Amino acid sequence: MDTHKEKINLEKLPRHIAIIMDGNGRWAKKHNQPRVFGHQNGVNAVRESAEASAELGVEVLTLYAFSTENWKRPESEVNALMELLVESIHGEINTLMDNNIRLNTIGDIQSLPEKCHDELLSAIHKTRNNSRMVMNVALNYSGKWDITQAIKKIARGVKNGEIHADNLDCQDVDQYLSTAGMPDVELMIRTSGEQRISNFLLWQTAYAEFYFTPVLWPDFSKKHLYEAILNYQCRERRFGKISEQITQDKQC
Ligand code: IPE
Ligand code: IPE
Ligand code: MG
Repeated sequence: MDTHKEKINLEKLPRHIAIIMDGNGRWAKKHNQPRVFGHQNGVNAVRESAEASAELGVEVLTLYAFSTENWKRPESEVNALMELLVESIHGEINTLMDNNIRLNTIGDIQSLPEKCHDELLSAIHKTRNNSRMVMNVALNYSGKWDITQAIKKIARGVKNGEIHADNLDCQDVDQYLSTAGMPDVELMIRTSGEQRISNFLLWQTAYAEFYFTPVLWPDFSKKHLYEAILNYQCRERRFGKISEQITQDKQC
């Protein structure tokens, strides 16, 4: 089960991993089942990635669960996803407690159905003292929404004299995003073979390494997460410098 785990260099773990959990619908189709069956099975993959990340020592795991664009799906699918959200938060609270994971959400959760909103707030409250890892669930989230809400806060701050526009730098902007206080994404994974960002974390992935896998989300297991991390650890992250300036030990 834990193949590849022992090869991971724990000194070089990505501090923040973000995942675009994609391919539930295609997985269901492959099994001649309705789309919702794919979403239901996607919950197993959430548990696998959360446990594996927490066990390794990743600080933040951000999962894209529902985008602002996903409201455009058929109403029956949106409703099924909202119901599944309530059920799975309820069902997985023990996984979060057992693994010492703190639940957090990013996105406009006020606009979710009241039941989802309440269930989320209750789980966030229950897990508030957990300290091994933060699991951000991106719900009614989009990168453009995040940047826009940050701009609104900054504009208000400038207007009331709390913020001096001329002094504002990138680190200041970080503090107005929904990921304030968290490290930037270092590894971004997308399942199902699609190679696009679909309006996920735009600002926070400025220097992320991208990893695309054809595996459909419900099939994604701990083993696949280890593979993604090993692949990430073999890359040379130059941050604008040239290779000769990079001192990291080349082990791949
Ligand atoms: C990802 O799987 C889950 C959500 C976007 C909520 P999809 O539902 O997008 O699955 P495909 O892309 O249709 O296979
Ligand atoms: C992105 O997946 C959103 C989530 C995984 C929640 P989609 O399946 O909605 O993305 P597109 O529409 O194919 O870009
Ligand atoms: Mg999709």
